[in-house]
Amino acid sequence: MNIRKVVIPVAGWGTRSLPASKNIPKEMLPIYNKPVIQYVVEEAMHSGVTDVVFVTNREKSVIEDHFDYNLQLESVLERAGKMELLGKVREVAEMVNVMAVRQKKQLGLGHAVLCAENAVGDEPFVVMVGDDLIINDVPGVQQLVDVARAGKKPVIGVMEVPPHKVDKYGIIAGKECGDGVYEITDMVEKPAVDKAPSNLAIIGRYVLTPDIFRHLREIKPGHGGEIQLTDALASLAKERGMLAVKLKGERFDAGDWVDYLTANLYFALKEEQLQPKLLARVRKMLVDYPSGRGE
Ligand code: UTP
Repeated sequence: MNIRKVVIPVAGWGTRSLPASKNIPKEMLPIYNKPVIQYVVEEAMHSGVTDVVFVTNREKSVIEDHFDYNLQLESVLERAGKMELLGKVREVAEMVNVMAVRQKKQLGLGHAVLCAENAVGDEPFVVMVGDDLIINDVPGVQQLVDVARAGKKPVIGVMEVPPHKVDKYGIIAGKECGDGVYEITDMVEKPAVDKAPSNLAIIGRYVLTPDIFRHLREIKPGHGGEIQLTDALASLAKERGMLAVKLKGERFDAGDWVDYLTANLYFALKEEQLQPKLLARVRKMLVDYPSGRGE
């Protein structure tokens, strides 16, 4: 299974990130010194994917621009002798080939993936949600691709979530058929805790075959009146079988403020020159808030 393309839907409203995302796509909010979407694209690139299809809307062209050259800025940096920064901004433009398709109405994640049908064509492809970060030595997408190659079936990424969070995710039912690999028997979008078939939540990573597009066209609007990717996946799984792989790594949902803020600390603390000063400030906060409030 040779996989070249990734579809990254970024056309949602990002309401959880308001007011920060009022005029800036939430995918462009920074985590330490890079926008959220750059972490996602880097994971794709490190997994061997070369072509990115962003599913965007009219407010979001700044996302494609981030992966293009900015010649004016480059010449300013060059003249100022800021060669390290110049290298960093150029590097982003050279990561991947970029295409953009429009989702003209925000009818849900499944509909967004369907908008990429012509750009994908007749080949297996990856889908990544544009605000979900997975950090691991073997990148998240690579973990899926490895299982898809061996199993010759579509594969989706899952992670265990606590019971009080199952109603925020698509949840799978499955039989374990290998170490952390499941043969999917069913899946439900955002079930109530007493209706959830497991605590294995679908997170934003998928390796799909092009027949998903037929299922996306045929399904009816589901939870929240949206065309749900989970419903089309359930239908595809019934027809041809599907695997789930328990993803290894640290996950941050950039649309969730606690995850977003933790991710900022996580990456900034890896920076040698920031670490001591940042830790000193965090330690002081721990003194100011000894027992924590809320949660
Ligand atoms: P989310 O539900 O996390 O994103 O969708 P959202 O709707 O932008 O954010 P909130 O919940 O209001 O804060 C998951 C992904 O699917 C994309 C989003 O951009 C996000 O990356 N999406 C969602 C679309 O591209 N189109 C849609 O119609 C819905």
